[in-house]
Amino acid sequence: MDAEVFHSLKNLTQGVASLAELFQTDSSRSQWLTVDACGIHADFSRQRINKSLYEALVHCADVVDVQRSFKKMMAGDVMNATEDRAVGHMALRAPAKSSPMAQQASGQLERGKTLANGVRSGAVCGATGKHFATVINIGIGGSDLGPAMVARALRRFANGPVVKFVSNIDSADLDEALHGADPETTLFVISSKTFTTLETMHNAERARRWVQAIIPRWAQHFVAATSHAEAALNWGIQKDRCLEFFDWVGGRFSLSSVIGFPIMCSIGGDQFSEFLSGMSEMDHHVVTEATDRNLPVMHALMWWMNSALHSFPTVAVIPYSHDLARLPAYLQQLIMESNGKSVGVDGRSVLGGTSPVVWGEAGTNGQHAFFQMLHQGTQIVPVEFVTTGASLGEDDEAHDLLFANVIAQSEALAAGRTHSEPHKAFEGNRPSSVLVLDELSPQCLGSLIAMYEHSTTIQGWLMGVNSFDQWGVELGKILAVDAAKAIASGKSGDEQTMTHPLLNWYLSIRKKLPRNQ
Ligand code: F6P
Repeated sequence: MDAEVFHSLKNLTQGVASLAELFQTDSSRSQWLTVDACGIHADFSRQRINKSLYEALVHCADVVDVQRSFKKMMAGDVMNATEDRAVGHMALRAPAKSSPMAQQASGQLERGKTLANGVRSGAVCGATGKHFATVINIGIGGSDLGPAMVARALRRFANGPVVKFVSNIDSADLDEALHGADPETTLFVISSKTFTTLETMHNAERARRWVQAIIPRWAQHFVAATSHAEAALNWGIQKDRCLEFFDWVGGRFSLSSVIGFPIMCSIGGDQFSEFLSGMSEMDHHVVTEATDRNLPVMHALMWWMNSALHSFPTVAVIPYSHDLARLPAYLQQLIMESNGKSVGVDGRSVLGGTSPVVWGEAGTNGQHAFFQMLHQGTQIVPVEFVTTGASLGEDDEAHDLLFANVIAQSEALAAGRTHSEPHKAFEGNRPSSVLVLDELSPQCLGSLIAMYEHSTTIQGWLMGVNSFDQWGVELGKILAVDAAKAIASGKSGDEQTMTHPLLNWYLSIRKKLPRNQ
């Protein structure tokens, strides 16, 4: 972004009155800062923004030409320059006939749905003829967080095998999943775009040994979801159980690909199609709706304003929905892996902050943990409340109380309270947004997730970064391989790295400990 434009936006930000004054002087505020789209009611009226700043921000979205950029993305243009790749996640839920990418994707999704429905009905069963009662997904990052978050969010729709997720290299994770499981009735899904990720491959090998110890025809108990089919086939996955996605789908944007296979097993192929249809509805909205009434654009502008212009370093995403408890973890990867960068696509340092730290916990639990700091701490933390209009639970009164707490917290943050005793005073003027899904259905959840994908992408365009690469995770991976080799050989080498003493200490205690595989 042009430095002059950036600084003039920053000046506008500094001139914004307090939320109390903004509400007093503009009675239409809650109309122009509220939008209803694709089953989501979004209220941004308690963000620190006035009309002239909003117009200037919408102008920025027009300057970076958000809708044209999305259309280029859908046409298969190279949007990820540092990896020379197209960015095709919108094609995953587009009608098959709309593009060659959509055609390819739909074929694989149909294969996934047929296989999942077979697992659910018992037509696809284990080597000893027993139905699969448990599906264990082994994957990490984008090959875990999205499906795990959705499977939990839609657990009220679950009517298939029990679905579990294992991601961590810490054996405690797989130990827990295997506890009480029966090799004869367990299906493993090895989810990995690259089919090389250390954690996933290590856990997959242990899972294979666990099945093989009882069932020589172990391959019948494994499915792969990958864009490296050759590696999966070489590992021993059967061709008819190898579901593919593509180089042009980024890991954290892969939820609508066959990476969703565990969700299909849990809720069925038709309900997964509903989820995709919610995503597709939001895709249509983002490319057709005027930028000043466009939900992902408005959302991105608020987030970018808070991080780059107001310089608020973190955002708390608080789902007031127990089933959405994994949403913050999913968003951490989507937003921070995409936009946690400091150089732009032109290789130069960016102006202003890029990705905020995204964190959160389900409400109302968070209220009894860290909300003290949100209300009276020295740091200002914008809060995003995510909740539902309708309750799907057994207790509607509890849902009313849940919603009442969203209203109360958002009001308290914005309005604050004066008090003669300083420790009982709330300064207020603390920003928050409220996103309300009509209900926690596959369709509405799909719309919400596509909204977050698009908002992340738009924020990246505003920041000038490439949201689709993740070079920042490479160095740690390389050094882990070196450290693992040193530990396996029992020798630390001569190089005096800063962690050399720690490695030597570990080698010395390791010699004294009994070893388990
Ligand atoms: O942590 C980096 C990363 O490459 C993520 O982008 C990705 O989602 C994750 O690792 C898992 O990668 P894969 O699906 O290839 O196993």
